[in-house]
Amino acid sequence: MLIIHRISELQSQLQNERRKGHSVGLVPTMGALHEGHASLVRRSVGENDVTVVSIFLNPTQFNDKKDLERYPRTLEADCKLLEQCGAQIVFAPSVEEIYPEPDTRKFSYPPTDSVMEGAMRPGHFNGVCQIVSKLFSFTNPDKVYLGEKDYQQIAVIKRMVEDLGFKLTIVPCPVIREESGLAMSSRNTLLTDAERAIAANIYRVMKESRNLNANVSETHDYVVENINAIDGLEVQYFSIVDGDTLAEVGSWQDAESVVGCITVFCGSKPIRLIDHIRYK
Ligand code: PAF
Repeated sequence: MLIIHRISELQSQLQNERRKGHSVGLVPTMGALHEGHASLVRRSVGENDVTVVSIFLNPTQFNDKKDLERYPRTLEADCKLLEQCGAQIVFAPSVEEIYPEPDTRKFSYPPTDSVMEGAMRPGHFNGVCQIVSKLFSFTNPDKVYLGEKDYQQIAVIKRMVEDLGFKLTIVPCPVIREESGLAMSSRNTLLTDAERAIAANIYRVMKESRNLNANVSETHDYVVENINAIDGLEVQYFSIVDGDTLAEVGSWQDAESVVGCITVFCGSKPIRLIDHIRYK
């Protein structure tokens, strides 16, 4: 497995692969890898000749600098896991390599990037589009593997791919959950064992809400009330939205696919956890 820090080196390696007619899969990450990332990498390895995993803690997508500071950094362990998964190339550039100049580009794809995380974390999706568009340009992948855990992120990136005309396929991959049902996330390592156990209630309650036979507004209230009733959890938002546009729906008939997206504060620090559930 090659570990590359420079864009020019990545591009010349991939040029060699292309000359041999090899397909390229890209798994963009910010490191602190877990089984969820490993599942994306294994899928890419199975479907492409070469898998590139980028590890870059992208500062432009953090509107909260404290969040960036405490984000776990585990490059050595990450590389070990990637080697086991069969990745061929790790691209781990410095901030200066990616942003020699401040990136002033603006991306705007409402409502996908203006609701939910977009409203709570101004500038977040702009930063995601900045880094992801650069990674797509440097790598020119055939397929890009993204975890559905960040459901909204996939919707925004799909719009950007259409807008900028990238010739690649986005492959959304299912959420990988701990045995308790808690969605795997790099942020879970910031939770204590007790908080982790409490956090498992998020998915439990959302799953229950699928069996209520209730309308959208009752379902919404059920989830919010039942999660807020648990000590140590506080819902920031729960939105029941069209699974493609992310516009809120008023009834189950309003869209072909309907998804509930949630963000919950957990514990005293507190840690922000996101998850979603598909209703149809
Ligand atoms: O989902 C993430 O880890 C990041 O938002 C991504 C896509 C790697 C861009 O920095």
